[in-house]
Amino acid sequence: MTIVNQAAARTRRQILVCSAWPYASGPRHLGHVAGAYLPPDIFARYHRMAGNNVLFVSGSDMHGTPIMVAADNLGLSAREVAEQNHRDIVDAFTRLGLSYDLYTTTLTPIHYRVTQEFFLRLHEAGYLFTESTLAMYDPEVHRFLPDRYVEGTCPHCGYEDARGDQCDNCGRTLDPTDLINPRSKLSGATPITRETTHFFLDLPKFSDRLTTWVEAHREIWRPAVTNFVLSWLGEGLIPRAITRDLDWGVPIPLPGYDDKRIYVWFDAVIGYLSASIEWAERQGRPDAWKDWWQLDADGAEPGRIYNFIGKDNIPFHALIWPAMLLGYGGLALPYDVPANEFLTLHGKKLSSSRTYTNRLPTLPEALDLFDADALRFFLAINAPEVRDTDFSWDEFQRRNNDELVATYGNAVHRLLSFLQSRYDGMVPAAGQLTAADQAMLDQTTAAFSSTAEQIEAVRLRDGLRGLMSLAQGLNRYLDEAAPWKTIKTAPDQAATALWTALQVVSALRVLTAPYLPFSAQRLHEYLGDEGRVDELSWQPRELPAGRQLPKPAPLFRKLEDDELLTLIDRLGPNIGSSN
Ligand code: MF3
Ligand code: ZN
Repeated sequence: MTIVNQAAARTRRQILVCSAWPYASGPRHLGHVAGAYLPPDIFARYHRMAGNNVLFVSGSDMHGTPIMVAADNLGLSAREVAEQNHRDIVDAFTRLGLSYDLYTTTLTPIHYRVTQEFFLRLHEAGYLFTESTLAMYDPEVHRFLPDRYVEGTCPHCGYEDARGDQCDNCGRTLDPTDLINPRSKLSGATPITRETTHFFLDLPKFSDRLTTWVEAHREIWRPAVTNFVLSWLGEGLIPRAITRDLDWGVPIPLPGYDDKRIYVWFDAVIGYLSASIEWAERQGRPDAWKDWWQLDADGAEPGRIYNFIGKDNIPFHALIWPAMLLGYGGLALPYDVPANEFLTLHGKKLSSSRTYTNRLPTLPEALDLFDADALRFFLAINAPEVRDTDFSWDEFQRRNNDELVATYGNAVHRLLSFLQSRYDGMVPAAGQLTAADQAMLDQTTAAFSSTAEQIEAVRLRDGLRGLMSLAQGLNRYLDEAAPWKTIKTAPDQAATALWTALQVVSALRVLTAPYLPFSAQRLHEYLGDEGRVDELSWQPRELPAGRQLPKPAPLFRKLEDDELLTLIDRLGPNIGSSN
């Protein structure tokens, strides 16, 4: 009895998976993880198992005013703060199982070199110009106030605590000079405007090419991304300043600008390229990055580049970075820019008795209390792919206990335990398959192509939901076949059902591996396999009759009320369970 290998003979594709670079301004919270850091990991893990050439890169975004503001508050240098936060982010990401090929920072010599080359190339090609503008200046501390050093009222929605670069309420990108009633974050003084000269990226020069590019991708992109970008293009692009009056950032590679730096967003997006180059150099194959980036002689892209981001990053990834790449020339543009909506706290009106807290936990806080796979499961099955999703602790507990534990974990555990108690842990041989056995196997085989299809279309949530249906199907199948009963009356039939169910579990360890790598690895070992589950290929893997399996433990843990209450206490008052 063998399971047909359908996934063979696919050609290897070049897949560059880019995850937005977290600001090294402090720990990231679960909203960041759900939006930009977990999805690319699931995607990269799948593509590796599917046999493609995956390069998965990211790093910490070390420049920018959020870090300078944090450093000012702590009385430390921006570099010290960024480096400490970087180490903490690496630690938390490792605990979550994020499988980067390279996770670096924007402080490396390679990044500085590539950023400056990019700047000079765009400058020489006539895509940059200098212009004198008016900027916010703090008359008390005698410093220019970029972006987040200015707060005030949003001109679009009236929100009073809008930051100089963006309004957190309506999401519009702002310039500090747009704010009504601006105030300096440094001194609280009302800023004055002062003249300063900056470099601008001449975005209007790219409008036509960008429009063509967006139109060519509208079938692939999420509608929210396409609509956002087309509306910007429709309003008409304007040049954007790409330098700032700061001393923290990549220096401008031209004489006469020592007191200015390249704007954090200009250097950060270049990180995708510089990290790929750094990865290649570390491999001892300095040209290897070109396999994902370099256009061929006909201008064709070598593979596909995916940029996973939160929706607040759309303009930078779907307009400005592509424009920079067009200006630089010879390099591939993003193929897809899967932007996620936000994980919100009681974003909608409170209609149920759900339990919310003041804030989302940071990733380290969450990892101290919950298994990485429990977090990965919830953030993926509830992913804010099409709309904001509301984070509540009731829902976290319910999904963990009812789905991960009671559906998937339970199907696996009752099967493996039964095998231990009644078959001494030895996989039985199958006899004649019934229609029900065959249907269960067919559903399992089909899950490989359907899950692949969902993941490749970056519908990660639906992919995982499909796997939970398969686990549910397995529970139903076991209930109906009831081998614990037929073992007395029809032992052949019981053995066949058991063999069949074990093949499903064997498949589930492969299918869940991109989403739940830690439990997939444990299951891999419970199935008597050695080595790493993530090195298996994306196809059914037969569990042979006669194999002796080790004693299993449950894969997942039920979350008890008191555990959740401990965390909720830590996060501040419960503000949601009003009725
Ligand atoms: N640091 C930015 C943020 O957290 C994201 C930068 S993505 C990059 O919003 F590609 F530009 F680095
Ligand atoms: Zn606003």
